[in-house]
Amino acid sequence: MNAPPKYEGDTIGSWTEDKLEILRKYAAAYSTILTKHRLRHSYIDAFAGKGEHVSKKTGEVVKGSPVNAINVEPPFVEYFFIDNDLAKAEALERTIGTRENVHLYIGDANKILVDKVFPKVRPLRKPGFRPTQCAG
Ligand SMILES: C[S@@+](CC[C@H](N)C(=O)[O-])C[C@H]1O[C@@H](n2cnc3c(N)ncnc32)[C@H](O)[C@@H]1O
Repeated sequence: MNAPPKYEGDTIGSWTEDKLEILRKYAAAYSTILTKHRLRHSYIDAFAGKGEHVSKKTGEVVKGSPVNAINVEPPFVEYFFIDNDLAKAEALERTIGTRENVHLYIGDANKILVDKVFPKVRPLRKPGFRPTQCAG
């Protein structure tokens, strides 16, 4: 019988696990405050990755920053994820599924941010809401 395929997530050190945890807490605090002030806030991760990693320390799967971001409560109004690696972007899409308020782009973030993302987050879309962003 064949062995199960080896998990091919990116392996991360403890400093990256710490960074992910800090970013998760920051995003939650940011979203809480902006929701309270009725600001239309978007989350942008221009280097999104595949949505999960493997801990060097424990060998366990660690959620990546986009997955942590979409689980933030209260949620951001919209999410923009970019990665220039097709396989990683497809893996991320499988992990988070398709959602109306999640926009996933494959390509160079330097171009996609300017051409696709910023034009979408700049305009005032709802009366009483002001646009603001949290870039991860
Ligand atoms: C460290 S990993 C992602 C980490 C992820 N943000 C997290 O914290 O879970 C960086 C990602 O950036 C992508 N990347 C590198 N250069 C890029 C570029 N110019 N445009 C878009 N994605 C890029 C790589 O393919 C890789 O998946």
